[in-house]
Amino acid sequence: MSETRPRPLDPEAKPDDRVDNALRPQKLNDLIGQDQVKENLSILIAAARGRGEALDHVLFYGPPGLGKTTLAHVVANEMGVNVKVTAGPVIERAGDLAAILTNLRAGDVLFIDEVHRLGRAVEEVLYPAMEDFALDIVIGKGPSARSIRLKLPHFTVVGATTRLALVTAPLRARFGAVYRLDYYDSPAMQAIVNRAAGMLKVEVERGGIEEIARRARGTPRVALRLLRRVRDYAQVRADGIVTRKVAQEALDLLQVDPLGLDDVDRRVLKTIIEKYKGGPVGLNTIAASISEEQDTIMDVVEPYLLQLGFLDRTPQGRVATKSAYEHLGLEWKEEGQPRLL
Ligand SMILES: Nc1ncnc2c1ncn2[C@@H]1O[C@H](COP(=O)(O)OP(=O)(O)O)[C@@H](O)[C@H]1O
Ligand SMILES: [Mg+2]
Repeated sequence: MSETRPRPLDPEAKPDDRVDNALRPQKLNDLIGQDQVKENLSILIAAARGRGEALDHVLFYGPPGLGKTTLAHVVANEMGVNVKVTAGPVIERAGDLAAILTNLRAGDVLFIDEVHRLGRAVEEVLYPAMEDFALDIVIGKGPSARSIRLKLPHFTVVGATTRLALVTAPLRARFGAVYRLDYYDSPAMQAIVNRAAGMLKVEVERGGIEEIARRARGTPRVALRLLRRVRDYAQVRADGIVTRKVAQEALDLLQVDPLGLDDVDRRVLKTIIEKYKGGPVGLNTIAASISEEQDTIMDVVEPYLLQLGFLDRTPQGRVATKSAYEHLGLEWKEEGQPRLL
């Protein structure tokens, strides 16, 4: 766990993390896209500020790299409060959470990443803390044990998860606002690439921006990563200027295709099509066939393929669509396709 204001140049951070943190928007107005979330949040924040209260608990969910962590910090910045950062798997015992809670000050934001991975015993402590700002502590053992209730300052939990379905119902019910982050549209992606290029002082032409934005699968984190790799390529193989052609060559070399599919995406589709005749096939089978983590496929690969309409989810398993065959240049036959009811 770390005490933060986001540190723009954390020396511990890997180079890419460092760049990501430096590029992280600090205020709602710096955030590009997600207009609906931004508007709802600005009302929530203005109202809480107007009443001089702590913000209600907020949950952000959606695929990785869309801005959940960024938003958690933005919320704290807008409220003018401190943020403590932790994550579901990090809080191992109820006592760990109690220690965190008793160190919070009024109004503070407690950011819990991967909130779907909190243990049961930890969750039990979190419920009264979120609802009544109370911490129940058991003193002693056996028949003489008794429970005392500590009062906590009014604080705000900001939760983030890639798997809303795995957040237990009682926990979910304790968030006053739940926001879903969606893939960014093309104008937003271009604006994000443009902003980052400006901040990183990359010389990039309009066409270069468009090409990177288009292949970044609607995900800011991917856009920033591709921008850095394209910049490397431009520096080493061209004259440093990211034209459309330079971006295309760099991204082709990285095997990121024009729709933003990478090697893993293509292997998932090809497995379904070539090994399982287009499906239906279970996720665990796909994961085993290509030696990838089931979680990666569920969090990163599948949502994007579903969004592109390359994949269908059926009760019997995953099915590749006609568009997926076409994109991969494979022949799609009407007969031999799985019959879906
Ligand atoms: N709306 C946005 N506008 C500009 N940059 C963004 C936006 N959302 C995310 N980013 C950038 O993308 C990166 C990944 O965002 P992050 O908040 O870490 O995603 P998540 O927590 O959902 O995985 C961050 O470094 C941030 O700079
Ligand atoms: Mg995050």
